[in-house]
Amino acid sequence: MDAQSKENLSVIKYPNKILRAKTLPVEKITEEIFSLADRMIKTMLKYDGVGLAASQVGKLYRIFVINTVPLDEKPKPITVLNPEIIDKEGSLQEEEGCLSFPSLYLKIQRAEKVRVQMQNLYNEKLILEVEGLLARAVIHEIDHLNGILFIDYVEESEKEKLNNYLKVIATQKAG
Ligand code: CO
Repeated sequence: MDAQSKENLSVIKYPNKILRAKTLPVEKITEEIFSLADRMIKTMLKYDGVGLAASQVGKLYRIFVINTVPLDEKPKPITVLNPEIIDKEGSLQEEEGCLSFPSLYLKIQRAEKVRVQMQNLYNEKLILEVEGLLARAVIHEIDHLNGILFIDYVEESEKEKLNNYLKVIATQKAG
């Protein structure tokens, strides 16, 4: 294993343009992909995230990880490669956050249930069927892989909150 594959990952924050990049399918599950998935899981858990997409750590592959149990339980993370949404059902508005937007929470409308075609790290094709918070996380992460961010769905009533947040991060960057 080379030095790069042991390196810690840092989470890229908005407004870094990498977050708007589209990712490419994983064609072959190499040692690099295994290592990346492992480090993404460690990074997600370190920051108490529910999910993390590869583009958030600067790797433009169609990979995301999610923790499938609540934060106060022993983590059960999974790695999802090449996800494609097959269908969605229902609609629910809940507060949502993102590791690329520290301390920003917005009410976002998402499907209640989602069915996704995916591959795991062992090159098996599976159907992932989830609902509630997990469905929300899965849709959020798939959006990341397409360069879409949760702020893109901001409700009219929360635009001011978002604009204030963006002003603050612009000031921090300048400072
Ligand atoms: Co996110």
